[in-house]
Amino acid sequence: GSKATPGTNPNNGPLQRHRIDSGGRAITTNQGVPVADNQHSLRLGERGPTLLEDFILREKITHFDHERIPERVVHARGSGAHGYFECTEDITALTKAAPFAKVGKRTPVFVRFSTVAGERGSADAVRDVRGFAVKFYTDEGNWDLVGNNIPVFFIQDAMKFPDVVHAVKPEPHHQMPQASSAHDTFWDFISLSPESAHMVMWQMSDRAIPRSYRTMQGFGVHTFRFINAEGAATLVKFHWTPLLGTHSLDWDEAVKINGADPDFHRRDLWEAIEGGAFPEYLLQIQTFTEEQAAQWSFDVLDATKIVPEELVPLRTVGRMVLDRNPDYFFGETEQVAFCTQHVVPGIDFTNDPLLQGRNFSYLDTQITRLGGPNFHLIPINAPVAEVHNNQRDGFHQHGIFRGRVNYEPNSLAGGCPFQAGARGFSSFAERLLAQQATAEPTKLRAKPEKFADHYTQARLFYASQTPVEQYHIARALRFELTRVQTQAVRARVVAMLRNIDEGLAATVARDLGMALPEPLPMARAPVEAPEVAVSPALSLAA
Ligand code: HEM
Repeated sequence: GSKATPGTNPNNGPLQRHRIDSGGRAITTNQGVPVADNQHSLRLGERGPTLLEDFILREKITHFDHERIPERVVHARGSGAHGYFECTEDITALTKAAPFAKVGKRTPVFVRFSTVAGERGSADAVRDVRGFAVKFYTDEGNWDLVGNNIPVFFIQDAMKFPDVVHAVKPEPHHQMPQASSAHDTFWDFISLSPESAHMVMWQMSDRAIPRSYRTMQGFGVHTFRFINAEGAATLVKFHWTPLLGTHSLDWDEAVKINGADPDFHRRDLWEAIEGGAFPEYLLQIQTFTEEQAAQWSFDVLDATKIVPEELVPLRTVGRMVLDRNPDYFFGETEQVAFCTQHVVPGIDFTNDPLLQGRNFSYLDTQITRLGGPNFHLIPINAPVAEVHNNQRDGFHQHGIFRGRVNYEPNSLAGGCPFQAGARGFSSFAERLLAQQATAEPTKLRAKPEKFADHYTQARLFYASQTPVEQYHIARALRFELTRVQTQAVRARVVAMLRNIDEGLAATVARDLGMALPEPLPMARAPVEAPEVAVSPALSLAA
């Protein structure tokens, strides 16, 4: 196909400054010294040893030795594309966020689609959640909507994230299985964590084997806040809906594709864009008030729940078109750093305990992954909005700052930056009603009562599936559980399924050749803990 017309995407501009065209130029060292011979090292005679003096060889090999950076701790496998977001409806009454300032306004975006569990070189068409991360380069700073293709999550509290990821990743002693949830540790964790019931139904459904990144929905998952120019807040859920519709692979197709073409989704995205069939998604929102949310049987701060469309219909507010492939996979797709804490005026968080933990995690992990605190200077991460502050130094600093003043307030510098006041980002002044004027403790490790219903929405999801789709869920569970060695874990999963659908539980039990176990208790089963010594002191005595 023909290449997408350069220049149609406004994001061509900022990255253009960093493009390197070496056509017809002499090879140089990294110090810019022209290299006479790029074929031979410097040796003592044709058959003698290589000389330490050969700085050209040493520089070339040293650089090569350090080419790899750590892969992402999750979502390591991914594919990216550039494009734009266009606002199609006036929602300035709801939010002052820059991308929605005016109908017709276009904001450059970079999107990365990913799998969660597999390593950087793993196959695309595995059964897994897909990441759907969008970086909006707005004129008031970068806004990252770091979503997934499934609208809910495994856990309710960030405290559990390292556990769920350890459970799904290859087992630590033999590093099996790669890129798959079909093993004891994953199902052990799931069957002891009933809050995962809803997510697991989605994960065992056809949604977890998308046909293409072009036919996949995206969800912000958490409830966020819109803030308007008057400072008024509205709760909001974000949805990306593909124009081509939502389509999945059949399991048998996926298994074959993974062997024949592990790059199936990456290739599909690349070729569609090269051929001018630009992937397009609608941005749809659900907005509601705190008072509405208080009436519902679930908590909108609980990431294991959706807000059903019967309660709040979707409203289309924009479209996103992906019209340009990256030039350099490492420089763009690999080095891009999405962070949930990247918000702009007009967008704010809620107290979802999963989101609050994520807001810490991304910047923290990227300091290791991208080698220090200055990765915002990497071209793909650099905002189009200008950056001015007194943050200094650190590995890979690129700025040349002038003068002696790097603090505020000061009286010594003429042109130093000042806080923006009302024009800047200020966190929504939330009033926490519940605990005021009561004797209840306000600093505690706990969750609200409404977080405890783990099965209603799992049942609704299963019931919403057609008979063929329900059969696919049963088939997926059979495949997964036949790979679980521990009989007690199999039994606990089937016991969990009894709380979702008796027919599904009976089918899976029959397929596994086991008797139907008693249903799992509806709430989290207390994990049997043996008597433990708290901080046993090392005995220094003889
Ligand atoms: C990537 C942490 C939940 C979506 C990552 C990364 C970390 C992380 C450390 C790697 C980032 C990097 O190296 O650049 C967490 C934690 C979570 C959590 C602590 C819960 C407490 C979620 C949820 C979603 C999500 C609920 C979806 C709504 C993503 C996506 C990426 C990602 C899409 C890949 C971004 C990319 O393409 O570079 N997460 N995550 N995560 N996470 Fe999460």
